[in-house]
Amino acid sequence: MSSSFHKHLIILDSIDSTNTYLKSIASEVNEGTIVLAEEQTAGRGRFSRAWVSQKYKNLTFSILFKPKTETDKLGLLSLRSGTAIVRGIKSSFGAIVTCKWPNDILINGKKVCGILSEVVKDSRGNTCMIVGIGINVNQTEFPVELQSLATSLAIEQHCTVDRLTLLSHLLHELEHGYQLFQAENYTDIIQEWKQNSTMLGQLISVEQDNSIITGIASDIANDGALIIQTKETSLKVYAGDVTIKKEYHT
Ligand code: BTN
Repeated sequence: MSSSFHKHLIILDSIDSTNTYLKSIASEVNEGTIVLAEEQTAGRGRFSRAWVSQKYKNLTFSILFKPKTETDKLGLLSLRSGTAIVRGIKSSFGAIVTCKWPNDILINGKKVCGILSEVVKDSRGNTCMIVGIGINVNQTEFPVELQSLATSLAIEQHCTVDRLTLLSHLLHELEHGYQLFQAENYTDIIQEWKQNSTMLGQLISVEQDNSIITGIASDIANDGALIIQTKETSLKVYAGDVTIKKEYHT
């Protein structure tokens, strides 16, 4: 992996979505291939939401992994990619950055980065995982409805950020994270994610399809699922929108 990782960096001025594009070329390129676009005309977030990002201000890119691991462990690769972003931002700025399950990266409680991980088969039937990363870097204005929820590195650090230097730190961390994943260092992956998150122990609600589960975010399972302790039982959740309700004290 280390030989091919980010040796193939495709930089586009504009594309519909870097995840969609990388999916379309997954059979023809090596793992570690990265597609970065200055503009996405149909950038996608989780649950088919739009991901909107100002051109030339931010980082929107996707990475292709072709892991040999069992599919049920791929949630951990997604979690480890989140931790890699946290590490990359911390090492660049020393900011207090945290992970919110499954894959939001927050500064001061506001979202600075979102990750969309998609598992697909290429035309040869190989399992691929595309990890799409959107980081608000130098964008300083957000639509009114996002102002209390979203932030950027420039807002938090009070400076303009050199995107290429940041990208280089992030790719280094993503490669390192993938090596840990390939080495099946799953306990360390979960441990490090937990160390970088403040949500465990807190009262949360998770919205899934038409239902809402409320309980304490109690742990991360060994496949990357979130374990929620409700009044009645303990549940494993694999997808959903998490809202942290308030600080919870026993
Ligand atoms: C989320 O928070 O819902 C995930 C957002 C992921 C956005 C990134 S930007 C690069 C890549 N291409 C996409 O279309 N989406 C991801």
